[in-house]
Order: sequence, then C-alpha cells, then structure tokens
Amino acid sequence: MTLSSPLTPDMVAFWQGRYDTKQTPWDLGAPAPPFIGVLQAHRALLPSPGAKVAVVGAGRGHDAALFASAGYAITAMDFSAGANAEATRLYPGHFATAQIDVLQQDTLPHGDFAMVVEHTCFCAIPPRCRGDYVANTAAMLQPGGVLLGLFWTEIPIEAGGPPYGTAYDTLLDTFAPCFKPVWAVGCLNSVASRQRQETLVVFEKH
Ligand SMILES: C[S@@+](CC[C@H](N)C(=O)[O-])C[C@H]1O[C@@H](n2cnc3c(N)ncnc32)[C@H](O)[C@@H]1O
Repeated sequence: MTLSSPLTPDMVAFWQGRYDTKQTPWDLGAPAPPFIGVLQAHRALLPSPGAKVAVVGAGRGHDAALFASAGYAITAMDFSAGANAEATRLYPGHFATAQIDVLQQDTLPHGDFAMVVEHTCFCAIPPRCRGDYVANTAAMLQPGGVLLGLFWTEIPIEAGGPPYGTAYDTLLDTFAPCFKPVWAVGCLNSVASRQRQETLVVFEKH
C-alpha cells in the first residue's frame, strides 16, 4: 500500500497534538498486564530472546520497555515525534525508536523482524486503511514471524473513533489475507477500565 493522500499528514498532526497537549487517556503509564501474563505463562508462543521485535504505534514505550526487559531487541515505532521523544526520555537506552508510519509501505523495514507487537495501534487506524496495516505489518516480518496483538474487541463499531471498534470475527477476517491465528484468549487480567474488553491474539504470517 502507498498512502500518499493528505490523510497521513492529518493523522500525524492529530496524534502529535495529543502528545503536545498531554491528552493521552489511553496511556496506562505501564506495560499492559496481558503482555506481562503472556511473557510469564506462554513464552513458547513467542520468538526466543534476542530476536528482533517491532512495537508499532508504541506511544511512550511502556510495552516496548517490557519486551526489551524480556530480552528482545526492540524497535519502538511511532509516527508521532512526541511519542518517540517521550519513550526515549522515559526509557533511555532500553530500545531503539523509529519515526515510522506503518501505513507507508515504502519507508518500512521489510522482512526484518521475528515479531510485531501491537497494542492500541490497530484501533487508531481508520477502518478503510486496515488492509494496508495488515499487509505492512506482515511485510515487516520474517517468514513465519508472528504478530502479538492486544486488541480492543468490545468497542461498538458504530461509536466511531479513534479508537475504532473491531468485533473479534471482523478482526480475524481483516488479518486473514496475511496471517492465521494460532492462539487467542479473552483477557481476564486487563486494567480495570478495560475489563472484558480485550483479546490477546498471536497471529502467524502465512
Ligand atoms: C492510542 S495510541 C497507543 C499508544 C501505545 N501503544 C499505548 O498503548 O500507550 C496510538 C499510537 O499509535 C500511533 N499511530 C497512529 N497511527 C499510526 C501510524 N499510521 N503509524 C505509526 N504510528 C501510528 C499514534 O501516534 C499513537 O502514539
């Protein structure tokens, strides 16, 4: 996909503005508990420590720091310069950052990563761009690579966005052109405000 419409600058400005004005209600200030859980209990689903991992739409980098502490070589990607600056300030030396738009195929590192980690990035992508998001995250992965995603599967789709809602079945259909699900669980260890709203999925690239 090549998204060269004026949409992308508008989107960057929207998210950058959120960091500039510190209006970031999605930010947990810590790694998402379901990621802590999967690292503790289901490590065999994930690549071995040392593998290269991209955290997309990484925001202030709390999840990136968690996976770095688990031994992965992390690149935290976000198209907002403010997010990357905050991540570097909060976690100096823990991981690399890259100012990258996951919808811009021509600027992405191709075939580089064993795993992509996703948390509240997919729900930030306008639904009409979801196919591009899926194709581009797949393109970043090595053959057999996995996408570990913590998805907000219970937001009403009619509610608009961001965040943009996704029913679980729709999520699987959206990822199907490039990925097959190999493991999924409705999260019981989400933060209080997201209880019973999140699904953790491991997708494997075709
Ligand atoms: C809801 S925030 C989530 C941030 C972080 N994952 C967290 O949970 O705190 C969505 C993030 O995705 C980034 N983002 C949105 N669209 C993007 C795109 N096309 N490419 C890269 N980053 C994007 C935004 O800048 C923002 O930091």
